[in-house]
Amino acid sequence: VVDIRKLYGQTGAFTYDPGFTSTASCQSKLTYIDGDEGVLLHRGYPIGELAESSSFMEVCYLLLNGELPDQGELDNFTHTITRHTMVHEQLAQFFRGFRRDAHPMAIMCGVVGALSAFYHDSTDIHDPQQRMIASHRLIAKMPTIAAMAYKYSVGQPFLYPDNSLSYTGNFLRMTFGVPAEPYVVNPAVEKAMDRIFILHADHEQNASTSTVRLAGSSGANPFACIAAGIACLWGPAHGGANEAALNMLHEIGTPERIPEFIARAKDKNDPFRLMGFGHRVYKNYDPRATVMQKTVREVFEALNVQDPLFETALRLEEIALSDDYFVEKKLFPNVDFYSGVILSAIGFPTSMFTVLFALARTVGWVAQWNEMITDPDQKIGRPRQLYTGPAQRSYVPVDQR
Ligand code: ACO
Repeated sequence: VVDIRKLYGQTGAFTYDPGFTSTASCQSKLTYIDGDEGVLLHRGYPIGELAESSSFMEVCYLLLNGELPDQGELDNFTHTITRHTMVHEQLAQFFRGFRRDAHPMAIMCGVVGALSAFYHDSTDIHDPQQRMIASHRLIAKMPTIAAMAYKYSVGQPFLYPDNSLSYTGNFLRMTFGVPAEPYVVNPAVEKAMDRIFILHADHEQNASTSTVRLAGSSGANPFACIAAGIACLWGPAHGGANEAALNMLHEIGTPERIPEFIARAKDKNDPFRLMGFGHRVYKNYDPRATVMQKTVREVFEALNVQDPLFETALRLEEIALSDDYFVEKKLFPNVDFYSGVILSAIGFPTSMFTVLFALARTVGWVAQWNEMITDPDQKIGRPRQLYTGPAQRSYVPVDQR
């Protein structure tokens, strides 16, 4: 009998924790979550206060630097980000290599990864100056790339950034503006969008952030690491849930059909789940969902629109939260449940929802990546495994099998 653990060097104790439900992979000063109480803090500040009173640029500064900026620091930071909003002209050629009907997340993965071919000065990840420039470039260029992905999918020309606008206003113009006509940014939409970006800025060691850290732990180029994060975010159990949640609301259609879908979500023989419901860490209402629900009302009022899907969503939440299954399993709406309703009211197709999430999460990814590189305990990420395959055996030639 071969002791298979010794054979593969698996001596000593290690934990078997599929999905990392109880294993901390790092230390971090960025974001604190109390899932039982529904608390989310960035550098100590509650997400509700940041969403209400701050701006996305300020939250970016906070996450990257640890403190809120004074006015001068904020102006400088905003100016720096603005300086980096353009992308290399050659990148437009790169876009044209994609099929017209490519999912914009597929385009984002490719284009952001390709940035590593443009910025050779980002290879020394131990130089703080280079890390900072790479971080600023990523935050600044994501709206330009996201808007280009959209424009490419609808067959309209790319728009250059207009740096007289705010970060968010500029993104809206590059997305919805056309060269022949002046584009006026709706201040209510700009504010709502900025708030949505704040709500998605960071969320400690979720799957995509852990992916960025894991990729970065080998010393890989930062643009390649963020591309890895984008790939992970795409999945419907993570960032793709906002797209899936809106598709689900469309499928449900009217409130009368909700019980049928609740029954399906509870049926263990049916793979269907209520999208936008449940969270690995929150066993209470996701504080971001609270802000999101309020923002839906504000956007609808500003745009003077109604969407029966919002009523369906509200009713679905009400029915689910009074159902024993959801109560016992502590399944509450998460950030993705209401975001799709707002984003489609603003005019984004569902395929762009996860792109917007990636745009906003970029600051969290780069802040976490910077924190990891400067952590003296940092090592290459290398999980162990519990080997369950065959014991050692001898090779049998093919004619004897
Ligand atoms: N609908 C119905 N049942 C659910 C749901 C749901 N949305 N979510 C979890 N459950 C059930 C599971 O079937 C499981 O039941 P069981 O104990 O009888 O087997 C139990 O609740 C626990 O679920 P797990 O999948 O083990 O929990 P986990 O922490 O691994 O998953 C996740 C969390 C992936 C978010 C899950 O709740 C889910 O799939 N939700 C829908 C997708 C979604 O909204 N994702 C967005 C997450 S937020 C974000 O990424 C920004």
